[in-house]
Amino acid sequence: MKIQFTIRNFLFLLFYFLVFKTECQVSQSKMDLFIEGLMKKMTLEEKIGQLNLPSIGFDITGPLLSKDVESKIQKGLVGGVFNTYTVNAVKKLQDLAITKTRLKIPLLFGFDVIHGHRTIFPIPLGLSCSWNLSLIEKTANAAALEANAEGLCWTFSPMVDISRDPRWGRVSEGAGEDPFLGSMVANAYVQGYQGSQLDSNSTIMACVKHFALYGAAESGRDYNTVDMSLVKMYNDYLPPYKAAIEAGVGTVMTAFNEINGIPASGNKWLLMDLLRNQWKFNGFVVTDYTAINEMVAHGYGNEKTVCTKALKAGVEMDMVGELYLKHLAQLVKEKKIKHSEINRACKLILEAKYKLGLFSDPYKFIRSEKEKTEIRTADKLALSLEAAIESMVLLKNKNQILPLKKDQKIAFIGPFVKDKRNLIGNWSGAGDFKLAISVWEALEQNIGLQNIVYAKGCNVLEDEKLIKKLNEHDGQIILEKHSPEALILEAIETSKSADVIVAMLGETFGMSGEAASRSDIRLPENQINLLKALKKTGKPIVLLLMNGRPLCLEWEDEHMEGILETWFAGSQAGEAIYKVLYGEAIPSGKITMSFPRNIGQIPIYYNVKNTGRPLDLNQKYTSKYLDVENDALYPFGYGLSYTEFKYKNLQIDKKQLHLKDSLIVSIEVENTGPFDATETVQLYIQDKIGSITRPVKELKGFKKIYLKKGETKQVKFTIREPMLRFYNESLKFKSESGEFQIFIGKNSRDLENTYFHLILP
Ligand code: NOJ
Repeated sequence: MKIQFTIRNFLFLLFYFLVFKTECQVSQSKMDLFIEGLMKKMTLEEKIGQLNLPSIGFDITGPLLSKDVESKIQKGLVGGVFNTYTVNAVKKLQDLAITKTRLKIPLLFGFDVIHGHRTIFPIPLGLSCSWNLSLIEKTANAAALEANAEGLCWTFSPMVDISRDPRWGRVSEGAGEDPFLGSMVANAYVQGYQGSQLDSNSTIMACVKHFALYGAAESGRDYNTVDMSLVKMYNDYLPPYKAAIEAGVGTVMTAFNEINGIPASGNKWLLMDLLRNQWKFNGFVVTDYTAINEMVAHGYGNEKTVCTKALKAGVEMDMVGELYLKHLAQLVKEKKIKHSEINRACKLILEAKYKLGLFSDPYKFIRSEKEKTEIRTADKLALSLEAAIESMVLLKNKNQILPLKKDQKIAFIGPFVKDKRNLIGNWSGAGDFKLAISVWEALEQNIGLQNIVYAKGCNVLEDEKLIKKLNEHDGQIILEKHSPEALILEAIETSKSADVIVAMLGETFGMSGEAASRSDIRLPENQINLLKALKKTGKPIVLLLMNGRPLCLEWEDEHMEGILETWFAGSQAGEAIYKVLYGEAIPSGKITMSFPRNIGQIPIYYNVKNTGRPLDLNQKYTSKYLDVENDALYPFGYGLSYTEFKYKNLQIDKKQLHLKDSLIVSIEVENTGPFDATETVQLYIQDKIGSITRPVKELKGFKKIYLKKGETKQVKFTIREPMLRFYNESLKFKSESGEFQIFIGKNSRDLENTYFHLILP
């Protein structure tokens, strides 16, 4: 009976496999035939045109169309455009491509849909703190629905650069410092944007960026040089890009930096050997903004040389720089570039258009009815609220100062309490901050004004040079006319009647993101002055943080009763913050980047090497600082709840693991506090001895569990040999026999541990 069942299943699977495979082959060859036919009709100039991606400028009131681009489209010199959205604006350009060009090749429409399109979700760093992959996938899918309702078919996301230096402003765009979590998040974004079929009407093509290593810019200064050993690259920095490729991402964006001394956009080893030959990527590569041109400043050659190097390295599309347009035809004439090399690049771009279904219907994303039914729908706003809540991280909660009680008198102090502009953060796409819910609005709506009072307390910044720099690039910082002293006095006066002070402080949206590196990542001085003055009132203070990167919070940790990290939480920020502050939702986020104690500790991350002289406080000549601890103030994976979780009874079912075998490690987690709540249980493993030195621990699994108060659950992890592999000195991905430590706990520092041995034949 059992055998029959298996045979039937086997036959069914075989049949299915054959049919499916044949179908794939048929559609593959259909695509090949179509593109081959089309390319036969194309001139060299038209093929080069497909490699060109101009931006059509827009301002915050809507897209502006550039005349020059329009005429280039009509001449067939544009493959896609970006920074244009809304059905009308996109249609106008697609019309030009379809009605005015010889071959009617549709355009691609790209945009930086990073954390939502119209409905804005928390910034990616915040979202990653939810450790909720299906939530992240849902946010990407919702963003895709809104984006393609406005004519877009391509997003420049996900950004998966591992970042261990919070001075770098772009840490806000990624999933933090860890390759394992980063890889899972990368996969979730790609699934969310692209779904299972690129040609469906509800997805958009994703673009993993910035390939590669952009997050490792020296000293955290944006666009700076990167230099890294190959084993570090393979083990720590490359995995999330690889995960996105394995998830089927349609496109890859090059990084601005160099790798092994060669700029990414001219790096054949990176784009051909690794990406295409080893990882089997079959989509197309687009540069970052003017990155081919920038290779001239890198000192990699003149315009023609860098153009040649980029094309030969495997860059198919030139974003904004137009060097391909300017030089490729001539380079072919000069025989520096082969026609076949242009064909290769052009074909990949046409394939992407084919896979998106644009040749069957160039207007498939341009449907005005969808603009009405998809944008900022109730389900998307509800998702934004859920995501905002799950992203928040409770960093400190002395004497259970949080949650607040509705009958307590609370003084809400700070320049962000009534602010809307900053709530949706940087890279907030087509989001309209005016539609975001401010904290004050949410408080007013939910609890009324009888028990809350407000004072601004300080300006977001007083540093004139910094304000000028930020405002030159649309920083939108408007200062209160009163002096800092007057603002502080008013705040103290306002706080007099309060039981608790909630001070909402942090960064403006422009203080993190691209070209927003900071060498000092403490709160701005004027904000700290306010906190110091408030502290003197003797009232308990909750610091409500809004920022796009880990900050140095040593003083705040010592002096504040509560600290809640809200990041830039998006469209529903105010409502989410209200709910968490008042205990209608219990915080469960865990940070995905270490928060340093001070700037001198940077770069800082949990999965470090032991060194030959590991920390020993009793020995002088060990690896440590004279003036600060080695570890982070808040380590990777850290985040509190309003309840308490007790970890106990760590068990392992065997002490030896063989090649094809598995072992199970389990732990009991008990909710011993007063609230039902969610906890993220984390599994770390250390390979004790290796042929290359191995980190002190590495995240290898996590589970998010919900526990009612008083409830205990057993959490199990299965460990198999593939989880223990790493890239060795010869860059072979292998495990090695020997002892492994297992750690399970609530963050990368507070852990229970046991061990096992891996026995390989
Ligand atoms: C530059 C940024 O580095 C990249 O992330 C973005 O996608 C492009 N500009 C396009 O806006």
